Amino acid sequence: MKKDSKTQLLDHSQAKVRLLGEYLKRYLNIIVNDRYTERIKIYDLFCGEGTYENLGEGSPLVIMRQVKDIHFINQAKLNKIPPIDCSFNDIEKAKVEKVKQSIKDKSLYYPSFGEIEYTSNEYSLELSRLMEIIPKLRKQKAFIFIDPYGYKHIRASDIKNLLAKGNSEVLLFLPTQFMYRFDSNGTPESLKDFIEEITSYKDWRENDSVWKFIEQLKDGFKNYLEDKFVDTFTIQKDPQTVFCLFFFSSHIKGFEKMLEAKWEIDTEQGKGWNFTNNTPSLFVEQKTNPLEEKLYTFLEEVPRYNGELYEFTLRAGFLTKHINEIFYNWQNNNKVEVVTSNGQKARKGAFYIDYKHFKEDNKRAKFKLTTYGTI
Ligand SMILES: C[S@@+](CC[C@H](N)C(=O)[O-])C[C@H]1O[C@@H](n2cnc3c(N)ncnc32)[C@H](O)[C@@H]1O
Repeated sequence: MKKDSKTQLLDHSQAKVRLLGEYLKRYLNIIVNDRYTERIKIYDLFCGEGTYENLGEGSPLVIMRQVKDIHFINQAKLNKIPPIDCSFNDIEKAKVEKVKQSIKDKSLYYPSFGEIEYTSNEYSLELSRLMEIIPKLRKQKAFIFIDPYGYKHIRASDIKNLLAKGNSEVLLFLPTQFMYRFDSNGTPESLKDFIEEITSYKDWRENDSVWKFIEQLKDGFKNYLEDKFVDTFTIQKDPQTVFCLFFFSSHIKGFEKMLEAKWEIDTEQGKGWNFTNNTPSLFVEQKTNPLEEKLYTFLEEVPRYNGELYEFTLRAGFLTKHINEIFYNWQNNNKVEVVTSNGQKARKGAFYIDYKHFKEDNKRAKFKLTTYGTI
């Protein structure tokens, strides 16, 4: 019997909510301790029914587990943390009722966490409500999870508006396989409209794989959202089907937390999840480290400072531990010279590529290649 993704939480959907949970864990941990944020708001706009027939847990329960965890961890340390308000919406009232019941049955909410709200509105209505609320938030942060069945409701301009104030992050699921299939097969108006917003449709190149389709969408979003941070997490359901989560952030630290979450799930490539359960295929070619190539080209242009290198690494979808590994290697092989701001050679292994130095001392060290032409 074919398993139904609407009543059962199948493995690929499990991967989706796992990324959500891994991210929230890291995000909440930073925000509750930043000594600035006074309130956090989490919105799940297509929340579904919470518990599936096979007892799998959907997004609302995954969110509440993280909220409960961060609360109890801090309570144990006697840390007072800001309230975290959660809002769950789905057009089907019965589903929202089920969510409410599951949260109650599993004791996932206590009033001391913050407010909780259940609504059954059409997405567009929720969106206009958010457009009212988010710009007015002061010293508050919002996280919005958008997980529709299709993409016809979704507009890139809405995402742009949600991010406009710089106090929110968005995680959006797109059924890229279905979009791609149409793209190569007579594009319907809805897809044209979607693409038209992020990149002029006449500039859209036909893709010969869903992976390239996703890359082009990502580049389109990056271009369209200018200074915002954009990343993807692919979910390969079977050899023919690839869906994708898109993550949008206004803040480099939130972005770093998302990258950490995806590298936690895909320790090999930080790219996504696949149906083979993450075991790297024997047939996958071991290519040169793609960050190493990009970094080399970046440094070939001009020498770079630690702050620039921090941003460069994250925007390329990698973590600081990856760039540090490369520099250790290069330093051992005399391929790079690292000089501190007072003109002296930096201590071996001291690279200062992290958020703290990005914020406070972004020209602490300068990196210059000593050999050009080959890595
Ligand atoms: C992919 S499911 C959500 C799954 C859920 N996030 C989870 O992790 O279990 C999409 C949900 O969107 C709801 N939905 C469909 N059209 C909607 C609309 N126009 N506005 C709000 N919700 C809608 C459906 O009832 C369905 O529960």
